[in-house]
Amino acid sequence: MSTSDSNSVDRLPQREQYLKQSHGNPFAIRGLWWRPFHTWYEGSRVGRLPWGIRHLAMVLRNWLLYRKPRRIEYRYASDGFATKSRLAFMTDPTFVHAYERMLLARGEANDLGIHLRVHQALWVASVCRKLPGDFVECGTGRGLIFSAILDYLKDWNSLGKTAWLFDTFSPYHLNQQSGQNDPSTGVSGNYAVNLESTRRNFQEWPRVNLVPGMLPDSLNTVDIKSIALLHLDLNFAAAEETVLSKLWPLVVEGGIVLLDDYGQTDSQNETHTRIAKQFGVEILTTGSAQGVIIKR
Ligand SMILES: C[S@@+](CC[C@H](N)C(=O)[O-])C[C@H]1O[C@@H](n2cnc3c(N)ncnc32)[C@H](O)[C@@H]1O
Repeated sequence: MSTSDSNSVDRLPQREQYLKQSHGNPFAIRGLWWRPFHTWYEGSRVGRLPWGIRHLAMVLRNWLLYRKPRRIEYRYASDGFATKSRLAFMTDPTFVHAYERMLLARGEANDLGIHLRVHQALWVASVCRKLPGDFVECGTGRGLIFSAILDYLKDWNSLGKTAWLFDTFSPYHLNQQSGQNDPSTGVSGNYAVNLESTRRNFQEWPRVNLVPGMLPDSLNTVDIKSIALLHLDLNFAAAEETVLSKLWPLVVEGGIVLLDDYGQTDSQNETHTRIAKQFGVEILTTGSAQGVIIKR
């Protein structure tokens, strides 16, 4: 699985078929495909309604908005938000290449619609590559974001950094009480197939260390000296809080913590905000629900 030639990209055979049918548009969606669509800005009145009624109200409001398209000035809508911003990166070949590599790691021919999420992770990596310290990800699964990052950083081989990728590498969703991967909750398409499969995905890059085991305990099995970039994506607030507290002292001055799910759930939003206050920093909220902390 080599993507060393910057003009070519290895793709799934099904992906090639998709691109033929979509006349080369890499972001086209084909067939019946679920794309996360939460809401236009929920607003406090709708947000206070009980769960089922709230969703009905949101569907109704979205339908009304769709019927008046000229009132909504946007150029892009996906991953739970819409923006009128010109997303020039969408046609940048380096971005498209990295995005394709991310889809290869996922093993899915369809576009996942997480362009801004990937773009922001790539931007963070491009800043942090110039800082001392390693790259760390807590919650790697199949390695979507880090595949894109390593593909994007064409000089990874000469940076002398190590990527530490932590996960249980279990395919099962988390039990929302215990925070453990729980076979009774079913398999997630975004979690690892298994350790070996994720290892194969990263074999083209040197100095990528997969660290299997339950966080935060697995942090004790390795010796990380300093961190330039920390990507936190455990989907579980309590574990993220412990991990962030332990790793924060290792983040270098100017280093960045990228919180994949800062705006995704109340529990993560509140936990991250509280812990950032303790560190004396603020979190940048972004439209993709990612949060960004720069250590100062
Ligand atoms: C959303 S997925 C990560 C996706 C990944 N960042 C990517 O780019 O593909 C969340 C992952 O966190 C892992 N996880 C959750 N809690 C964990 C814990 N306490 N210790 C280790 N891994 C954990 C899950 O097994 C799952 O693979």
